[in-house]
This record gives sequence, structure tokens and C-alpha cells, in this order.
Amino acid sequence: MKILHASAEYFPYIKMGGLADMLASLTKEQAKTEEVYVALPLIGKMGKEPKWTGKEVKALLPEDAKEETIAVSLLAKARFLEAEESGLKLYFFESELFQGLDSIYGTTDEHYRFAIFSYACYALSQILNVDVYHAHDWHTALSLGLHKNSSHSIPSIFTIHNLAYQGDHPFWMTGFLKEDPFRLVTSPFDHNDKCNYMKAGILSAGQITTVSPGYREETLREPNGFGLSYVLNKRSEDYTGILNGIDAEEWNPQFDKRIFQTYSAANWKEGKLKNKTLLYEEIGRPHLSLDAPLIGLIGRLTYQKGFPTFLQAFLERRHLSHRYVVLGSGDTETEKAFFHLSDTFPDVFYFYRGYNESLAHKIEAASDFFLMPSLFEPCGLNQMYSHAYGTIPIVSRVGGLRDTVEESADPKFKTGIVFEPNDVGSLGYALERAKDLYDSSERDHVVKNIMNLDWTWTKRKMEYDFIYQRAIELLQ
Ligand code: ADP
Ligand code: GLC
Repeated sequence: MKILHASAEYFPYIKMGGLADMLASLTKEQAKTEEVYVALPLIGKMGKEPKWTGKEVKALLPEDAKEETIAVSLLAKARFLEAEESGLKLYFFESELFQGLDSIYGTTDEHYRFAIFSYACYALSQILNVDVYHAHDWHTALSLGLHKNSSHSIPSIFTIHNLAYQGDHPFWMTGFLKEDPFRLVTSPFDHNDKCNYMKAGILSAGQITTVSPGYREETLREPNGFGLSYVLNKRSEDYTGILNGIDAEEWNPQFDKRIFQTYSAANWKEGKLKNKTLLYEEIGRPHLSLDAPLIGLIGRLTYQKGFPTFLQAFLERRHLSHRYVVLGSGDTETEKAFFHLSDTFPDVFYFYRGYNESLAHKIEAASDFFLMPSLFEPCGLNQMYSHAYGTIPIVSRVGGLRDTVEESADPKFKTGIVFEPNDVGSLGYALERAKDLYDSSERDHVVKNIMNLDWTWTKRKMEYDFIYQRAIELLQ
């Protein structure tokens, strides 16, 4: 089967969060049995130089270029450049709209940029004549509207990674969607007087998925549908939650080249102690107590991640001996608060502002616990990476976190600590339970349980195969 994925992110070329990791690991697994292509924008600053094959593909179908609009002329000048990666082909969209960018998101004209990219992905799927077209998040959602209108429709899937970002724009900014090469009737995508790309994807795709069963259920009700739960309810029969998998080659303490010392389930205690010691030296805090439990936190500092709940719980539970290492960047207020704690409590708290892939691996390896206080979490990957590294996750009971972490009373089934979202008292109590667990022999059982969990795609890839089959049957 020939599958084309369309996405704004793909590890290690463009990564802002979990979408990049999810897609790279899923496609690597799919490429073992299928012919897999991935369409991506080519930006100025890439995480890795692609291995070009020299092949080029056009980004505009001749039948869509009857009138010389600005979009048509931009697409006529643009092209896809083919590159090779782990048994699959990447198609980088080379266009003046993307080439100067250091970072993929955050410019005020993204609605235009991603609309053009979405058209190009649609054109690529026709040119490559694929069996299944799979688009991810709002950035590529309009391509599904184009597929729906097309006389050569291809079975299509839309995966929602995060409903908080929908790509909605005032109609005066999206008038170009009525002209060549789009020719879209945009009224069905109207949401609060804006053209909503996410809604377009939900209404147009053959099948819709999101990244965990728990999040699927939550998004069918407000406020977690971010205003779109009524559209998801309309399509609930075609809407499935499939838990993300992880890449066991990238995230494996036995082979990880980014950590100070590799380790396995057989020697995790020594491995973690060594990693903790050297991490404290690297961050310039060699005096941090090695006996005290270390809690790691990594993430985008946005509303979703619930860090203010943690800040309050931390202050209320100052008497606990935990140490904290935090890595992230985002909201200025949260960054300031973390810097403040880092300065005020240098024996307890360390904050690194920025994005640092190696440090993320080192924190996973060194930490005893990993905290995710999310207010909502479509899937979350770090709790699964933590399991692999023998780092006990402490998570809020939301979305994919509640699907992957269980605080069972029976130590044989315990895989972490779970608390209620947006609840300072509940998080504080979870920090106390973490201390008790750290001091008890039960910890050894829990670490053994979690290091034995298999969160790879090997078994779960089939769930996407099933959805692809349904999308194919729908068109027959
Ligand atoms: P989201 O996609 O909502 O950001 P996920 O848990 O799915 O959340 O994935 C986040 C990914 O991004 C993880 O691989 C995490 O390690 C990584 N990450 C987030 N912030 C940083 C950072 N500041 N430095 C390094 N890696 C980060
Ligand atoms: C999103 C979600 C995150 C999920 C990731 C990959 O960014 O916020 O929970 O793990 O996508 O699907």
C-alpha cells in the first residue's frame, strides 16, 4: 500500500513537540511493510540536513491553474524535493513562503502559508497516485477539503493531535480559498465567523483519528472540544482514538548516546545514580543531594501543560525533600516564575529555559519521577519515555495520560502516580505519595513494571491499518 502523510513537523528535521516524534516513529514502523511518503515544508533552519535523491515533483496540477492568481503563481514556482530517510521517502516543499523561516509556527500569515502547503500536499498525493492520504492537524487540514471535492478522490484520514490549535481566520483573510487552485466552498468551515481549518479537516476526511481513546472521549464534550465537539459528535462513527507509540531506538536507556551512562532494567539503580550525579555537575549544581528524589519536568510552557498548578503545589509542599529539574520555554509569566524559584531555592530547583533535545534525554535518565500536570493532554509522550527509562510518571488524570499510567493499589500493576487536573491539593498529595514510594521497597516493583511495558508501534500500527481499510471501503 502507498501511504502519503502530510505534516508540519517530523523528527529530527522540524520539531516543536510530540507531533514530530509521533509521525517519525509511526512512519518508520509503517515503512517496514508499506511504501511510505511524508510531505513536509522545507524551512531555513532544519534539525538535520536531508539526504537528497535528486528527484523533484511539481506542486501544482495543471487543471487547477486556469486563472493566474497569486497562489497559482507561488505554487508554479514551488516544488517538492525528494529525500531518503529510514526506508521511506520525504518530500520537502520548497517555496519562498517557507524558506526564510527559522521556526515553523508563529508568523501572522500562517493561515496563507499552510493553505498553500495543504494544496501542494493534495497535488502530491494525486501525482504519486497513493492509496491512502493521511493529514495531521490544522496545518494540512484543507487538503482534505480538496480531496473531498476532487473527481479523483483518495481514501483520506485526518489525525487530530491537539484541538487547542485550530487555524481559524477571519473570512477576509481567506477569500483566496474560493479562487484557483482551491475553488473551495468555505461556508461549511464557518465557525464563529471565521474559516476554521480544523473543522474543514473533520468534516471532509474519510476517517478521523485522535491520539488516545481518553482524549477522543473528552473531545466529544465541551470545554475539551474547544468549540468543535458538536462537529466531532456529527462524525463520531468515523472518529477513533488510537494511542501513540514511541520509537524504542530513539528512547531507550540501553542504547541512548545522549545520556551519561546507559543502563537496563538489570542495573537501573546504578545507572540512574550515575546519570543524576553527572547531570547535577553539568547544570552547575553539584551540591544537590543525591539521596533526595529528583523530579523532572519537560515541556512547552503553555496553558495546556498546567505548570501554575505545580508552582503552587511546590510552595505548599516545600517540606518534602524532592529536587526539581525543569526544561522548557513558552509563556513569559511561567518562565519568570521558574527562574524565580531557581534563584530562590538553588539547592532544590533548577530551570533551563530553551529547547534542548540532549538535555531532555539526560533528564529522563537521571530523574526518579517525571511530573506532567497537564490540564488536557491528547496523548503525551514523556510519560511513555519515562516508563522506558524507569522514571516513575506522576500525571494528571486526563487524555492519554490516564490511558497510559495507572496507580493501582496492587504493586504488580502500578505504573505511576495519578492526581486530579488543576487541583493543587491533589497534586501536593501526589508529591507526598512519591516520597513514600521512593522510600519503600515497592519502588523496585514499580520500576520493573514500567521498564517492561511495550509502548512501541509494533502492535499498535495495526489500529491505523484498520482505519485505512475503513477509509478505502468508504470510497468503494
Ligand atoms: P506536546 O506535543 O503537547 O508538546 P508531547 O508530550 O506529546 O507534548 O511531546 C513533547 C515532546 O517535545 C517530547 O519529546 C519532549 O521531550 C519534547 N520537548 C518539549 N519541550 C522541550 C524542550 N524544551 N527541550 C527538549 N525537548 C522538549
Ligand atoms: C500534541 C499533543 C500531545 C501529543 C502530540 C503527538 O502536540 O499536545 O499530547 O502527544 O501531539 O500526538
